[in-house]
Amino acid sequence: MRNIIVLLAATILAVGFSSCKEEGEGKDKDPARKSFNEVYRPQYHFSPRAHWMNDPNGMVYYEGEYHLFFQHFPQALQWGPMHWGHATAEDLFHWDRHKIALYPDSLGYIFSGSAVVDNNNTTGFKSGDDAPLVAIFTHHDPDNSKEVQSIAYSRDGGESWSKYQGNPVIKNPGIEDFRDPKVFWHKPTARWIMTLAAGDHVRFYSSPDLKEWKLESTFGKNAGAHGGVWECPDLFPLPLDGDEQNKKWVLLVSTNPGAPNGGSGTQYFVGRFDGHRFDNQTQKHRWIDYGSDNYAGVTWSNAPERRLFMGWMNNWTYAEQIPTSTWRGAMTLPRRLSLQTVHGQPRLISQPAREVGDLGQRVFSLEAKKLSENSLNKEFVDIDLREAKISLDMATGNATDIILRLTNKEGRALELGFEKQEKELYLDRRDAGVDSFHQAFPKIHTAPLTQWPDQLNLEIYLDRSSVELFVNGGERVMTDRIFNKKAFSRLEIFTSSGTARLEKLEVSEIKSVWSKEKMN
Ligand code: FRU
Repeated sequence: MRNIIVLLAATILAVGFSSCKEEGEGKDKDPARKSFNEVYRPQYHFSPRAHWMNDPNGMVYYEGEYHLFFQHFPQALQWGPMHWGHATAEDLFHWDRHKIALYPDSLGYIFSGSAVVDNNNTTGFKSGDDAPLVAIFTHHDPDNSKEVQSIAYSRDGGESWSKYQGNPVIKNPGIEDFRDPKVFWHKPTARWIMTLAAGDHVRFYSSPDLKEWKLESTFGKNAGAHGGVWECPDLFPLPLDGDEQNKKWVLLVSTNPGAPNGGSGTQYFVGRFDGHRFDNQTQKHRWIDYGSDNYAGVTWSNAPERRLFMGWMNNWTYAEQIPTSTWRGAMTLPRRLSLQTVHGQPRLISQPAREVGDLGQRVFSLEAKKLSENSLNKEFVDIDLREAKISLDMATGNATDIILRLTNKEGRALELGFEKQEKELYLDRRDAGVDSFHQAFPKIHTAPLTQWPDQLNLEIYLDRSSVELFVNGGERVMTDRIFNKKAFSRLEIFTSSGTARLEKLEVSEIKSVWSKEKMN
């Protein structure tokens, strides 16, 4: 992929600058606030203040704050020499921006990786009373694409970072695409475990001190989707159906390309991990999200009580061409992951982190209504759907297809549908907004439904240039970017034949987080 990026650099640069004309300032709910109000600028999702961003990195919870680092090129709208940008938030939404945490150096660019709190001072990096933070990341040598693993530490809660003198801590054994270390403390064996992507498989390493690493095992050459390179793995335990006595291990692996709807996507495996090997009990891989724009997502280390995930809301197929002007890249909503048995199989469930609820205010609700071929058609006049959540409960009745269509005054339409015959859900963004920047962008994305449900619960989050759809409590998720210039203002819901029953429809406007942001 990197080679393609270099080859396309000139074209991409051209697109980058011409697209500056695309995006102007949007209509503001708060007229005093002039910035971060571009037409496509997310108002409650994380995006960089300026320039390029890709994967979330080093997500760690430390002394009351969620840290988010990210792949960042602070000089252009395109991918380039990677740095780690840095932000912190107590509530996962109102981010304080910090100075760049890690700069490229003689070993190369700073690629993706993770961060941990070294509570037992296994590294010896501690000075003073506080546990050090340690980042474990890939150094990518741009001259020969060789990748090694390195570490850096912070003694001031993440504000400043020193790279370890003994880097790299894992040399390259002759493997291409050898990157994205994700590390956790494995209590039963009292060692650190690293999951690392290695082209077409993942490798598990162990270490007493984050400096000396031993290869334990490999996984995946003969499992999962192999339509592209494996990247950004993560391994963590989750209770099945909330039963703390029955924990399973989940392995996330991003792959680019090879996702079910094209380009980049993230698969997962459920199994056992004994501190040495991962054993994929279900024999099957599944996808965490069926939209096109959730990639390289991993989970927060050390987060209290819950397993929190965030992905890069983009797809390498067109990431460098999306029509934003001074910034490029956004993250998905932070999501809580859990494992539930669905039709006898453990499935990963994604739900928006509860904190998003504090930003919303209900502005519309509708009680029960029968749905048929020519049904709900609601124009929202004083309600702003640019940053909004739409929630619905439906009984599917004897309807065949159930369709939801959002339209705006420019005649753009975003359509979601549930098809009984195909047992499928789709999100059609072919006509939703600006899409001429890449031929792979205007597409219908589909997701299988495990069965045709009697009840449907939908939560749809809109944030200027994104739509995130959570079906039946997060059993199915679709995340897509859309570039509609004008807000959607009309909602239609109807069936293709038969009747269904809308039991609840609620709309909440979601407050922008920008005015409260601080820049350190
Ligand atoms: C995934 C990825 C990682 C790599 C980083 C480079 O999007 O390709 O594998 O570390 O991006 O920016």
